[in-house]
Amino acid sequence: MHDRTALDNGATQSFLPMGSNPRFQKHLKRFPTSAFLRKEAPRHVPRFAFEYGDTGAGNDVGVAHNWNAFDNIKVVPHYGVTNKLPPTAVDLFGTRYAAPIGIAPMGGPSIVWPGADLLMAKAAQAARVPYTLGVAGGATIEQVAKVAPDVFWLQLYRFAKNDHKIGFDLVDRATAAGVKVLALTLDVPVRTTRSRETYAGLGGAFKPNLRMIYEMAIRPRWLLALLRNGYPRFATIRHYAGNVGTNDTINFARSEMGGAFSWEEVARYRDRWKGPMALKGILHPADAEKAVSLGVDGIWVSNHGGRQIEAIAPSIDCLPGIVSAVGSKATVVLDSGVRSGSDVMRALALGANAAFAGKSFLWAVAALGDDGPAQLIDLYIDELRAALGQIGALSPAEARAAKVLHPGRIEF
Ligand SMILES: Cc1cc2nc3c(=O)[nH]c(=O)nc-3n(C[C@H](O)[C@H](O)[C@H](O)COP(=O)(O)O)c2cc1C
Repeated sequence: MHDRTALDNGATQSFLPMGSNPRFQKHLKRFPTSAFLRKEAPRHVPRFAFEYGDTGAGNDVGVAHNWNAFDNIKVVPHYGVTNKLPPTAVDLFGTRYAAPIGIAPMGGPSIVWPGADLLMAKAAQAARVPYTLGVAGGATIEQVAKVAPDVFWLQLYRFAKNDHKIGFDLVDRATAAGVKVLALTLDVPVRTTRSRETYAGLGGAFKPNLRMIYEMAIRPRWLLALLRNGYPRFATIRHYAGNVGTNDTINFARSEMGGAFSWEEVARYRDRWKGPMALKGILHPADAEKAVSLGVDGIWVSNHGGRQIEAIAPSIDCLPGIVSAVGSKATVVLDSGVRSGSDVMRALALGANAAFAGKSFLWAVAALGDDGPAQLIDLYIDELRAALGQIGALSPAEARAAKVLHPGRIEF
C-alpha cells in the first residue's frame, strides 16, 4: 500500500502518486478504468452472480440514466493555477479520511464473490476511506469492527416487528462496535423486481438449478472463494434467526425486514443512536429539509444505483437542489452512477462532500479477487487527483468553485 500520509499532508508530487505501488501498476495496465473491470468480471464468476451485482430494475434504464447523467456533466477549468496533484484528504462527520470516496452498502456482495464484504472492509481500512456495511450483507457488524475500525459506516433497513426490537438491537450493536456513521435507507418502500437477477435464477432462498450448478462448476476461482468463505448471507441477521442455516436466515430476514422508515421512526432512531446519522435514498430537497429538522446529520443522495425502479431521476441531477436546501446544515454524500474519479470530481463540483460507489466494487472483486477492492480505491483516488489537478482545484473543496455545465439539473 502506498503512503497515505503523503496524500494527507499535501506533499504533492507532480506525477501519479501510485507510481511506486507495484500491485497498482500491474493491474492498471489491464484495467485502466472501471469499465475494463466490468468487462472482465463475468469471466470469473457464475453468471447469476454477475447479473445479481450488475442489474438494475426493469430494463436497466435507470442505471443507464445514472451513467448518462454523469457523462453529460462538463467542467470548465482554470489553468495557470497549479502544476501539482492536490491532496485529497477530507473530514466527514468528524473523521478524517484519505479521500472523499466511499464504498456504498450492499446486501449481497458475497453472492458476487464469497467473502467480498470483508475484502472491501479491509481495503477501505488500509486506504482510509469509508466502508459501509449493508445490514443484509455477508459479514457481521462485529467482524467489520475488527478489520475496519477507523472507517466503519453501517446501513440499516427497517426491522419494525415487536416495536423495532431487532432494529434497536442493531443500533446498540453498532454503538458497541464503534460504528462511525449510521445510515438508514429510505428508498425501499416496496419490493421491486430486478429483471436480470430474476432471469438468472435468483430471488428468495438460494436453490441452484442445473444451469446455476454448471455456472459455478466452470468458475474455479469463485468456487475456491466459496470453499474458503462459505455462502455468508445475512450474517448480521443470523443471530436473530437462531443461528440457523443460510436459507432459513434468508427467509427470516425477508419476513422481518421491509418497508421504508417513516419520519416518526426516523425520529425514534435519531433518539436511540447518539453518533452521526445519515438518511440514504433522498432525492427531493423537501425530504432533505425534513431530515435535517429531525436532527439528521447527513443526506445520502441516492437512487439505489437504479435498482429499485427504472423511472427514477439520477441522483446527480437532484444533487444541486439538495445542496442549496441543506448543504450548509448537513453533510451531503452521493451515490448512483459513480464509475471514476472524474465522476467524484463532478459530484464535488456540484456541492457533494463525498461520493460513494457500489456496483463497480463488485466488478473489481469479480475481476481481480482479493486485489480488486484495493485496486479500485487507488484507481478512483488517482483519477480524482488528476481530475482536480486538471481543473485547477487545490483540494476537494475547491472543486466547488468550478464552472459546471449540467444540462440534467432538476429545478425544484
Ligand atoms: C448488489 C447491490 C446490493 C445493494 N444492496 C443495498 C442494501 O442492502 N442497502 C442499501 O441501502 N443499498 C444497497 N445497494 C445500493 C448501494 O448502496 C448504492 O446506493 C448503489 O449501488 C450506488 O450506485 P452504483 O451501483 O451505480 O455505484 C445495493 C447495490 C448493489 C449493486
